Amino acid sequence: MSEHRPVAIVTGASRGIGAAIVSVLREQSWFVVGADLEPSESVRDDHVQMIKGDVTDEQLWDRLVDAAKALGELRGVVNNAGVQGQGARLVDTSLADFAANVAINTHSAFLGTRAGLRHLGSGGSIVNIASNAGFRGVPRYGPYVAAKHAVVGLTRSAAIEGARDGIRVNAVAPGPTQTRIMDAVAESFNASSPGAAREKLTAANPSRRFAEPTEVAEAVMWLLGEKSRYVTGTVMPVDGGLTAL
Ligand SMILES: NC(=O)c1ccc[n+]([C@@H]2O[C@H](COP(=O)([O-])OP(=O)(O)OC[C@H]3O[C@@H](n4cnc5c(N)ncnc54)[C@H](O)[C@@H]3O)[C@@H](O)[C@H]2O)c1
Repeated sequence: MSEHRPVAIVTGASRGIGAAIVSVLREQSWFVVGADLEPSESVRDDHVQMIKGDVTDEQLWDRLVDAAKALGELRGVVNNAGVQGQGARLVDTSLADFAANVAINTHSAFLGTRAGLRHLGSGGSIVNIASNAGFRGVPRYGPYVAAKHAVVGLTRSAAIEGARDGIRVNAVAPGPTQTRIMDAVAESFNASSPGAAREKLTAANPSRRFAEPTEVAEAVMWLLGEKSRYVTGTVMPVDGGLTAL
């Protein structure tokens, strides 16, 4: 029986968008193996196995795949874990800081995409969480922007390679979403008044608000499921119209 249970691996599953993805998957009766540096009790139930680890660690991926196969049939991989970085101009950015950002945002997506291409069967789906910063420049977030552009390119190449095996690869590109990342970004734009920075970011968005994590998670769910079976190689903005400007 358990071999027919749909299972997804979700990285960065403890909070923010990752935790919302776990909730939406659970509502759809999927089983989940979640990975995070800091596993959270709040996303744990008998359908969710949280594994502590760093998603840039190649060996962690063997553990995640083994755990998923023990739970049921691996049908999805969501590469969501990411960090925004320090918020510094490129002239003030060290190679170590640049490389650390690319490791967490891009290398982890590569490892997860490769694991998906190796271990998902036909009908499997990989979803990478890119960003509106994967389409355009953002001052003081150059490493993050470069890393997310790379995630977009990775997604497109993987989609072409996966298609012959019936494995789809897409990305979701959120705009500002109400998580601790946006709290940190608002603070880095205006340390004395993060609220003012937040208002400016909100005013710059055609929808005049940030996304709720669940709104991003619902798009991920659609890309994981059967209803999107002919959709591959896309990068879907979920940004209130920000990148349509
Ligand atoms: N929040 C936004 O406005 C926004 C906008 C565009 C894209 N994104 C992207 O969405 C994704 C999720 O972001 P969020 O806003 O939910 O952030 P968040 O900080 O709330 O959650 C990120 C989670 O990833 C985990 N994580 C970070 N590095 C890890 C590592 N090396 N190994 C394992 N786990 C790790 C963290 O512990 C945390 O639980 C990220 O890829 C981010 O770049 C977010």
